[in-house]
Amino acid sequence: MGTVFHRLGSVVRLGSSHRVTTLSCALRAPPPARGLHSESPSAAPQRRPFSRVSEEDLTFFRRILQNRVITDPDLLESSNVDWLRSVRGSSEVLLRPQTTEEVSQILKYCSNRLLAVTPQGGNTGLVGGSVPVYDEIILSTSLMNDIISFDNVSGILTCQAGCVLENLSQYLEDRDHMMPLDLGAKGSCHIGGNVATNAGGLRLLRYGSLRGTVLGLEAVLSDGRVLDCLSSLRKDNTGYDLKQLFIGSEGTLGVITAVSVLCPRRPASVNVVLLGCESFQQLLETFQLCRGMLGEILSAFEFLDSECMDLLKTHLELTNPISECPFYIVIETSGSDATHDAEKLHNFLEEAMTSLLVIDGTVATEDSKIKALWSLRERVTEALTHDGFVYKYDVSLPVDMIYQLVLDMREHLGGGAKRVVGYGHVGDGNLHLNITSSAKDPSLLASIEPFVYEWTAKHRGSISAEHGLGLKKRNYIYYSKHREAVSLMSKIKDMLDPKGILNPYKTLPDTSPRSSN
Ligand code: FAD
Ligand code: MLT
Ligand code: ZN
Repeated sequence: MGTVFHRLGSVVRLGSSHRVTTLSCALRAPPPARGLHSESPSAAPQRRPFSRVSEEDLTFFRRILQNRVITDPDLLESSNVDWLRSVRGSSEVLLRPQTTEEVSQILKYCSNRLLAVTPQGGNTGLVGGSVPVYDEIILSTSLMNDIISFDNVSGILTCQAGCVLENLSQYLEDRDHMMPLDLGAKGSCHIGGNVATNAGGLRLLRYGSLRGTVLGLEAVLSDGRVLDCLSSLRKDNTGYDLKQLFIGSEGTLGVITAVSVLCPRRPASVNVVLLGCESFQQLLETFQLCRGMLGEILSAFEFLDSECMDLLKTHLELTNPISECPFYIVIETSGSDATHDAEKLHNFLEEAMTSLLVIDGTVATEDSKIKALWSLRERVTEALTHDGFVYKYDVSLPVDMIYQLVLDMREHLGGGAKRVVGYGHVGDGNLHLNITSSAKDPSLLASIEPFVYEWTAKHRGSISAEHGLGLKKRNYIYYSKHREAVSLMSKIKDMLDPKGILNPYKTLPDTSPRSSN
């Protein structure tokens, strides 16, 4: 315990001023392909009878976009394959509009011609939603990256959908503000993609979901109509809140072209702590203690298990700065008064140590160490891709149940998998269960699914907490939604996209239920 106190003792020196630090992590290039495939048999729908892109279509697109029509197969390659390199489309056209008007003209034309379209942001999605399944046209927002306005008084940022999250964070940091959203893919993902997936990430615990912080958005409907809900008001109860339909709709209801987001002030003081626990029960008790003692300054409470720590060491050569423990916690505090925050953190850590909830830990007092500690949590996704074929699950459950799924899955699979690991957002009750095997293994998959979905449904969880359904999870929607709800979703889809050209084969199941009335 001596070393424990020595390490944690550094907390008393936290009074010095801190610059806000977010992990600067432009995503590494995707790992080498390990055989491209769809993850499960249900991920292979029939091609629907859409038109195929003709020379006349290309002429039209070139007339409005000039040289922003990409048909070179080499350039198309990276847009046809998802980040996990588990789903591949065969699109022959990538369109790169710069304005809402151009998106509108494209969709109007595609609707008339019955051409299917896949909207694409940073292509970091993890459920196969961002790439075509067949030859859908890829509509990329990468050139729609203008900041439209920022109001320093209210903290409201309005920008085009293709702004990269990390660039927005940087822009705001210079203006003493920050994005309410942070995730490991920040160097590549677009704010439009974040909104389209309703991404959660590392700070949801503190700043809430995009359903609360997105104040308005602009979307182009499948027939080219522009829906301007780009409000920048905190309060607006005039009728139905249509923007909510597009948040989390994964490109199936419209193309989001601009958003306005409520951004918090940049905290004056940020601290990051890595703690080790003997059991998940102690981790949960630490969370409870933390909520009580850190209160309003708590901005993240994340965890990884010892298998994840081993992956980081084995594949990325990242070092664990504390002794080996079964579970690790990353806690971030953000506040306006460094002395006040340091005192609170000190009291919390002292209590956590004396009550033996925590067996080891370290506190980051410098930017580089803050970054290094966050890397241990944020780079687990990347480390996993080097371990073999990855079966990824993203579930939310009552928080006291989240790790039980990992334990039950390990027992259920016996020695059938290479690794069964758990990490995620404890504060949000969100577990990332990942299972690796040295190669794609249909019999392993058959052991995992539907077990994982049945287990989650039995414990009243959601089979997709934050990644969405995309292509891979669409047919499992019934584990988390009643038939009536799915039926209503299908009707909304039919109303907004009657020809079904927007991101076909995604989000909704292949066979939609009929409503009971
Ligand atoms: P894409 O991957 O390009 O697209 C995702 C979906 O949104 C697709 O269905 C696409 O059609 C649609 N879409 C994209 N742009 C638009 C638009 N303008 N209009 C309409 N539809 C659109 N996710 C989390 O929730 N939390 C995390 O902590 C997290 N961490 C991650 C860490 C890593 C290392 C990686 C690789 C991914 C992580 N993700 C996480 C998943 C992913 O980054 C998010 O889902 C992100 O929001 C996707 O943004 P994107 O711009 O890359 O969208
Ligand atoms: C995370 O929290 O790290 C992301 O959601 C990515 C993942 O699930 O691997
Ligand atoms: Zn996550």
